[in-house]
Amino acid sequence: MLTIGIESSCDDTSVAILRNGNELLSLVKKSQVDLHAPFGGVVPELAARGHMDSIFPVMAKALQQSGVSLQEIDLVAGTTGPGLVGSLLVGLTAAKTLALCLKKPFIAVHHLEAHFAANFIEHEGLEYPMLGLLVSGGHSCLYMLQSPGDFQLLGETRDDAVGEVYDKIAKKLGLGMPGGPVVDKVAREYVAENPLVLTPPMLHTKDYDFSFSGLKTACLVAMEQGYSAEQICQALQTAAVRVLTHKTMKALKQYDLKTLLLAGGVSANSALRGRFQDLCKSAKVRLAMPTLKLCTDNGAMVARAGWERFVHQKQHSRLCVDAFSRMPLQNVEGGPLWQKYE
Ligand code: KG4
Ligand code: ZN
Repeated sequence: MLTIGIESSCDDTSVAILRNGNELLSLVKKSQVDLHAPFGGVVPELAARGHMDSIFPVMAKALQQSGVSLQEIDLVAGTTGPGLVGSLLVGLTAAKTLALCLKKPFIAVHHLEAHFAANFIEHEGLEYPMLGLLVSGGHSCLYMLQSPGDFQLLGETRDDAVGEVYDKIAKKLGLGMPGGPVVDKVAREYVAENPLVLTPPMLHTKDYDFSFSGLKTACLVAMEQGYSAEQICQALQTAAVRVLTHKTMKALKQYDLKTLLLAGGVSANSALRGRFQDLCKSAKVRLAMPTLKLCTDNGAMVARAGWERFVHQKQHSRLCVDAFSRMPLQNVEGGPLWQKYE
């Protein structure tokens, strides 16, 4: 079974062709970093136009690299939200139009469900229930994954997402965008003689919520006080990793869960991956994280999430499905997005 997955929720246009659930035949990404860099952040209108320019070339390249013809595609999966509506509409409309022309089923995909699904492409035998930490430019949340499609939110950021803070601090330090990979690199390479220490926010609160805006302010204050970019990047990374790992390990213990999924762009972070590897080993928890190219937004995760719903849950979506800027993950089951496929 061949699924085409189309992702355009923010500033990456990406298309992948997936055979069954785990054979990735092609994955093409077109980043819009150059388009937005002069503005220091993603400009929604420009993002939508950027997707318009890239969607057909990216689709054509993904098909060509896969060696599959358009007529062989069995299922079309497209992201429906959450994200920038103008951006989402480009990929979603392309996906729905393709399904209509090919007379093949269409499946709408939730962006966060897709991030988690990236893990299932590469890791076999992951067992429910599991804990999922989703960290990206737009989200920082902990979910309990009870069974396929059943997500329970345990906690989330009360303000900024962790990736957003990486991006904003990198911008202020003049390190370019996206900030995550560069702050990660600077922090990793810095051998601290006199490290700056920042307090991890909400480390000891009883809930599973996060807060990162105070950490952002602390970094800005440190800049004004004359700390170096290296010191600030390392302090940010240490504090963020500490609170994310601490609360996640606490939730694993409290709910007695033995599998942890990392997902989202920030799961590419070297310190976060390394620390979780150590902690999960000691706690005898199975850790699944996507390979780097599947951490940030991509069409493969969309294809996998769509394939999962179509094949295992026998669902498809109607072509009138809209794009949504906000879309809770735990309430989507039974909503208007998916219908029984007969
Ligand atoms: O999942 P994603 O591609 O888009 C959203 O759904 O938001 O995540 C992008 C975010 C950006 O904020 C980027 O700076 C961050 O992921 N990121 C990283 C790293 N690589 C990407 N953050 C920290 N360390 C990294 N290595
Ligand atoms: Zn994302």
